[in-house]
Amino acid sequence: MPKLLFDHTLDLLADPYRYIARQCRRRQVDGFQDRLLGRRTLCLTGARAAELFYDARYFERRGAAPEPLQATLFGKGALQGLDGHAHRIRKTLFMSMMGPASLASLASWLELGWTQCARQWPHHGRFSLYQAVQPVLARAACNWIGISVSDEMLPRCTRWLVSMYDDAASPGWRHLRARWSRHRAERWLTEVVRQARAKPATASPSWLTMFSLLEDEQGRLLSPRLAAVELLNVLRPLVAVAVFVVFAAHAMALRPQWRARLKDDDERMLDAFVQEVRRHYPFFPMAVARARRSFQWEGLQISKGQRAVLDLYGTNHDSRVWRHPELFQPERFLGQEPTAFQFIPQGGGQHLDGHRCPGEAPTVLIMKSAIRFLTWVEYSVPPQNLRIDLKRLPALPVGGMEIEQVHVALHERLVQVA
Ligand code: HEM
Repeated sequence: MPKLLFDHTLDLLADPYRYIARQCRRRQVDGFQDRLLGRRTLCLTGARAAELFYDARYFERRGAAPEPLQATLFGKGALQGLDGHAHRIRKTLFMSMMGPASLASLASWLELGWTQCARQWPHHGRFSLYQAVQPVLARAACNWIGISVSDEMLPRCTRWLVSMYDDAASPGWRHLRARWSRHRAERWLTEVVRQARAKPATASPSWLTMFSLLEDEQGRLLSPRLAAVELLNVLRPLVAVAVFVVFAAHAMALRPQWRARLKDDDERMLDAFVQEVRRHYPFFPMAVARARRSFQWEGLQISKGQRAVLDLYGTNHDSRVWRHPELFQPERFLGQEPTAFQFIPQGGGQHLDGHRCPGEAPTVLIMKSAIRFLTWVEYSVPPQNLRIDLKRLPALPVGGMEIEQVHVALHERLVQVA
């Protein structure tokens, strides 16, 4: 096997969303061996490579994620690092949250949140949409699960939830803040789990109770800390959808005709718009796994235990699948159903037996709910730098996507919802 002399971590960090696809295009391949974070790493892009990556005969997740990600984004011992039966047991609970009745309950908590925004935002002047949406999502997420959070506590736990995904991949003090936030959030939820376990059983238990009673593959209760880690696996990403809400607002700011179209409440258009936001805009650059055994693929020798990363953003922009992938065109989703390996903003393959994100349905629901709200209120977008900063993880508009002069037409749903 040829030795890889140079480590390219800095090149990857300089262009995290495009590095792998660029290298693959240059070499005219779907995968190559590289040295990243000091380790030999298989870099993959495209639908065929995604199919390989999600094949559990070849890849597993145990020990795959670098420690800095486990200590911030995922949590140590979380289901992201499990395989086989142990993974399936925990994933089943996540998937059972995604039924229609459960999602309807999330939708009504969101409605309540937007109603409060409609009252408060007109008095805010100019503000960051990203920051304003975060506590709305944090409160809705906690209510949905059955965790009550006081008005005083809300800003603090919103900060922890945001920091765990927003600071995790940054160097220096921001990364340390993400570690600290996880520490505080796990401590908070460990206590919440202990209290939930001490309560008598009820006929219709909340998601909090269900998570508190999670068992491992031997039928033993998870430790309260591990149950807290899995609760954070719901709360943290629900708040992270704020990034997609910002991207939806960004797309509407650049294309006012779409804002007007979405106002008509045409469900098909709204659906296509949301999917295109998830495809077009950068969020998670890649997913990570480990080779379960040694094998060959496309002339590459992959050795057991070596790390592999799948390029999510590049796969969603692969010109072999997407016509003019750099253009924002929601119409591409009308009448075209991409496969589970072509369209992978939240991972690919199977939900239950694979590592594909269980939160796609609530993500889409939150985005639709936020877009309906943003097309219902009037606001202006003051002059600012709307370029997407592709060096930031997660990427965001450089100017922060600020809005101002929010105005609510005093009729319709506000009265209805309140
Ligand atoms: C903000 C939008 C979201 C994005 C961009 C996103 C993205 C992802 C990605 C890329 C993965 C990894 C796939 C892989 O490893 O192959 C993942 C896994 C996961 N996501 Fe999401 N996600 C989002 C929202 C959510 C929501 C709302 C929830 C929970 C309600 C959630 C819970 C999870 C969990 C628990 C996993 C681990 C799944 C497993 O390992 O089996 N995510 N997500």
